[in-house]
Amino acid sequence: MSDEYILVTGGAGYIGSHTVIELINHGYKVVIADNLSNSSYDAVARIEFIVKQHVPFYKVDIRNEKELNQVFSNHKISGVIHFAALKAVGESTKIPLEYYDNNVSGTIALLNVCKSNNVKTIVFSSSATVYGDVTRFGDNSMIPIPEHCPMDPTNPYGRTKFVIESILKDIYDSDELWKVAILRYFNPIGAHPSGLLGEDPLGIPNNLLPYLAQVAIGRREKLSIFGNDYNSHDGTPIRDYIHVVDLAKGHIAALAYLKNLQSKGLYREWNLGTGKGSTVFDVYHAFCRAVGKELPYEVVARRAGDVLDLTAKPDRANKELNWKAELTVDDACKDLWKWTTENPYGFHIDNYSWENFDGYNNRLHSFVNGPLKVNLANHGALIQKVLLDGVNMVKAYDNAADFKDKSNPFFGTTVGRFANRVAKGQFELNGKKYQLTQNEGNNNLHAGFNGFDKQDFLGPVVKHKDGKFLVDFLIVDKDGNDGFPGEVEAIVHYTIDESSVGIEYECRLLSGEATIVNMTNHSYFDVSDSANIDGTEVKLVTDQMMEVDAELIPTGKFVANEYVTDPIVLDEKKPFDNCFIVDDDNCGIDTRARPLKKVFEATHPKTNNKFTVETTEPAFQFYTGDGVNTKGFAKRCGFCVEPSRFIDAINHEKWANQVILKKGEVYGSKIKYGFTKK
Ligand code: NAD
Ligand code: WQD
Repeated sequence: MSDEYILVTGGAGYIGSHTVIELINHGYKVVIADNLSNSSYDAVARIEFIVKQHVPFYKVDIRNEKELNQVFSNHKISGVIHFAALKAVGESTKIPLEYYDNNVSGTIALLNVCKSNNVKTIVFSSSATVYGDVTRFGDNSMIPIPEHCPMDPTNPYGRTKFVIESILKDIYDSDELWKVAILRYFNPIGAHPSGLLGEDPLGIPNNLLPYLAQVAIGRREKLSIFGNDYNSHDGTPIRDYIHVVDLAKGHIAALAYLKNLQSKGLYREWNLGTGKGSTVFDVYHAFCRAVGKELPYEVVARRAGDVLDLTAKPDRANKELNWKAELTVDDACKDLWKWTTENPYGFHIDNYSWENFDGYNNRLHSFVNGPLKVNLANHGALIQKVLLDGVNMVKAYDNAADFKDKSNPFFGTTVGRFANRVAKGQFELNGKKYQLTQNEGNNNLHAGFNGFDKQDFLGPVVKHKDGKFLVDFLIVDKDGNDGFPGEVEAIVHYTIDESSVGIEYECRLLSGEATIVNMTNHSYFDVSDSANIDGTEVKLVTDQMMEVDAELIPTGKFVANEYVTDPIVLDEKKPFDNCFIVDDDNCGIDTRARPLKKVFEATHPKTNNKFTVETTEPAFQFYTGDGVNTKGFAKRCGFCVEPSRFIDAINHEKWANQVILKKGEVYGSKIKYGFTKK
């Protein structure tokens, strides 16, 4: 793959985010610059989740040439797709200066930086709005609208597009090495079919479908249809509605066209539309079909500035760019409805916020659900804090950089792809021997030097459903990392309600025939609200433990633990770092269908805070943190309960099928950590 990037300005926005996905799907590397003035970083996190790779992001205002230039210094940019703009027609009539400053001055700044970095390939987001009211030609000669239709925008927003087109033309005229594609979009609609990305309008939506979607979800009472006395089959105006994914693909086609040019440079305009007009009622009915019910509406007076017909003549793009819109208004309505039901308030979710935890690559995401506040970070998909009524029950650093310190005892992280120990770091699978890194004496512990705990996960995708936060992180672990065979994709699903943090692990093989997987969470819990867990009262569901040797590798036998009384009062004279057996049946590779079983409970007389662990897993490691010695935390600052498969299962014939993940199968397990008052 080339080391050249396409810079996407406004890539966190509606059309930009869909285009970034298509670019990556077509093998391009992308860097996003967006000031987030009309978008959310969550869109970028979701892009990464969808494309399963990191996408560099800069929170930059394109008017800031210095910061923008830094993006060009950090990445070798070969071309730019320029979406960043303010785009509300009505608003532009009220604050025209802001529109000219943001859109026109922003583009001039961008072009200055492009020029000084010798980047001369640009695809520009223009709009059908530059044509103005084409019914002015009277004889319908400009309907559908061809690119040669004279421009006459009727509002400040449209005029910013007209001015920018003119600037780009002047630049090309001054230097024919520029390659400029002007894409004039008609009415973009719909959302990503995954349901993860879509339009997220702030305030009251101006556009037809975003408004209708809010009526359908109950955020608005009814749709106002702006006039039914136009000269169309049902009296409502005609527009060329184009699915945003088709529109996004048009950018890939334009970029490819510029790259493959035979001439030195080019300045050319293309309409991106379907060529098919639909009335407001046509679209209304299509959306009602997608929702499955009639939605309330009222016909009101015409909206000032609306015209009868804006339908594209897309022949030039069809022919020259070899691009054609393929999806229908019905497809767009279906995808919009999925996006709306799964994200009723777009990217905004009450009681969810995030902050940088070391730049954008590492973030801290906070969720408040009743008395519980939970902080998760994408580094290691870790649990950084759980506060119950303001009292912290999970020990970990407050500073992102500390998590990367060598003395970090896996604070809060997801451990995998293989938790716990593999004896000598060796195993055999399908007749082949593998040697893993030996990061703890002879053995491999928690996957080695670059386990899941050391990596930044992609996402999260955050949703709120039935009173719970759903938070998904994803990681792709490369074939050969720490010696493990096959590339895997693992998803950590968190569910946060008012009294618990649930975790569901899911892992699939992306390449190779088989690998080994065992995932768990390595949080240090504390119910004492103090620096030391001693005095904590603990109940374990079992006293059956794995017998282990001096290196904590199982002998294959189970033994009873003499210390397990009911309850155990934690005391440093009786340290635990033991694997307890919940079930010795054959659990297989996916335990998620098994009932959650309560395996652990801890309380402390001082706080009356109660912590419980439920799991579908056959075993759990109980560790009292006696080896902890790190910045701000001493030994026994917290205890770990790590539900998992049997230690070193791969090297014991009768346990090996707990951990062998074959192509086409899914590894799965569940944990539920409860945080309540006694
Ligand atoms: P959007 O608002 O969702 O996306 C624009 C993005 O640009 C946002 O993420 C915003 O934060 C960012 N941005 C704005 N000003 C910026 C600045 N100064 N510096 C950095 N980032 C900045 O809008 P969209 O619908 O995705 O539109 C994308 C482009 O397509 C715009 O240029 C718009 O004018 C054009 N367009 C949109 C439509 C439409 O109906 N959506 C139609 C025709 C053309
Ligand atoms: C579509 C039709 C309304 C809302 C705008 C910009 C254009 C481009 C795309 C950026 C019209 C009717 C709408 C409602 C309604 N954007 N309608 N009730 O006006 O065609 O184009 O977005 O470049 O420049 O002007 O789109 O979605 O607002 O309207 O009846 O609540 O729906 O009258 O006929 P429009 P729209």
